[in-house]
Amino acid sequence: MNKDQLIKQAKAVLNNNLQNGFTIPRAKLYPFQWNWDSGFVSIGFANYDVDAAISEINSLFSGQWENGMIPHIIFHSENETTYFPNWDFWETTVNKGASQAPKTSGISQPPVLGFALEQLLQKNPNNEKILAFAKMIYPKMVHYHRFWYNYRDPNQEGLVFIYHPWESGRDNSPIWDDALDLIDLENANLPKYTRQDTKISDAKERPTSKQYDEYVYLLELGKRHQYDGKGIAEESEFLIQDSLINAVLIRSNEALINIGKRFNFDTKELEEWQTQSIKQYNAKLWSEKLNTYTGYDLRQAKQFPQWEIGGLTALFANIPTPERAEKMSNYLADLMANNYFIVPSFDVHHELYDSKRYWRGPIWPQMNWMIYHGLKQYNFQTEADFVRESLLSLVERFGFHEYFEAQRHLVNTTHGGYGGDNFSWTASSVIDLLLCP
Ligand code: GLC
Repeated sequence: MNKDQLIKQAKAVLNNNLQNGFTIPRAKLYPFQWNWDSGFVSIGFANYDVDAAISEINSLFSGQWENGMIPHIIFHSENETTYFPNWDFWETTVNKGASQAPKTSGISQPPVLGFALEQLLQKNPNNEKILAFAKMIYPKMVHYHRFWYNYRDPNQEGLVFIYHPWESGRDNSPIWDDALDLIDLENANLPKYTRQDTKISDAKERPTSKQYDEYVYLLELGKRHQYDGKGIAEESEFLIQDSLINAVLIRSNEALINIGKRFNFDTKELEEWQTQSIKQYNAKLWSEKLNTYTGYDLRQAKQFPQWEIGGLTALFANIPTPERAEKMSNYLADLMANNYFIVPSFDVHHELYDSKRYWRGPIWPQMNWMIYHGLKQYNFQTEADFVRESLLSLVERFGFHEYFEAQRHLVNTTHGGYGGDNFSWTASSVIDLLLCP
């Protein structure tokens, strides 16, 4: 298939997922608007439909809370009942400043919107609509970052925490297993609930029911503390300074500093956060043993012991020294030499690697987009090209799936596209990788 055909197909995917001013990640499985999905989708749109790009971000901000949070799901329709947990289960009325129209979830997701806005500007430097939009949305974006630093960094370290795996964007990564095991499910007294995802997708490719119970437990914990209360940090078994969340926050800080300077906004607050965050990221999240950055479990006061994809996003955020970056890229060179498509989401040499199950092994499109740009920034052009080519060839072969098989022999002999098909961020990542290499 040639480039034009692939772009045409990708645009059709986005078009089909387009609702009233925003896209859903995928029909049926995810029938609402998701935070970081929409960030990546706006980058795809920015290449050919400025109005759609703006509207995608605006729709997310329609659900911003008074405390600054952009929730991870915006339930634009209250009548859609095929998703769990839906808006009624979240009961966000426990927080006085929560958006009620539209209804939302009570947690957030990786803060990609700052760098998405920068992409919109870079692709359309003189577009009046984009310029006006950037000026209008800018203070709201800074307020979103303020949410992270005010509510998620109790010791003012410069590193923010998450208290739910869904916030990480990497729901069932093996790195969370240990922390989730601290939860006493037997005495948790969970409310009754029915999953919807396994009715639509293959259960073997989705999180297990134990994990789902743990997700519901943490949701209830957040709810007890109005979703932003101090009690979360005091009580939660799951309290993680995540490698990806913090790298993305740093990358978006940088974008907002650049944009702020251009439009004469005061960037002092952002610059203070930024200096502290980069310093602490390097000091606390680097692992000599793994040769990559890894998350820190605040509750158990320890770094994660496994290689996992989140650390690589530090390249995208310009965090490592060239020496560290080189060590990180060696892992990828090794995978390339050993017949893998890259980048698998978890360490392929680890016993918990599961090449089909969601965040426990498969390749994710939007991760490739960030890692491609990160590697390029550090002049690892061979590895960068391989990351880009891996995704493009998998999509060409299997369609616009949610995630993909990484082992070449399986790709060649079985169906290697997993989860939902016709996925929005797969389409937007492909568009952007083809049009802005
Ligand atoms: C899954 C992914 C998450 C994504 C969402 C919608 O929950 O783990 O990262 O935002 O689906 O696509």
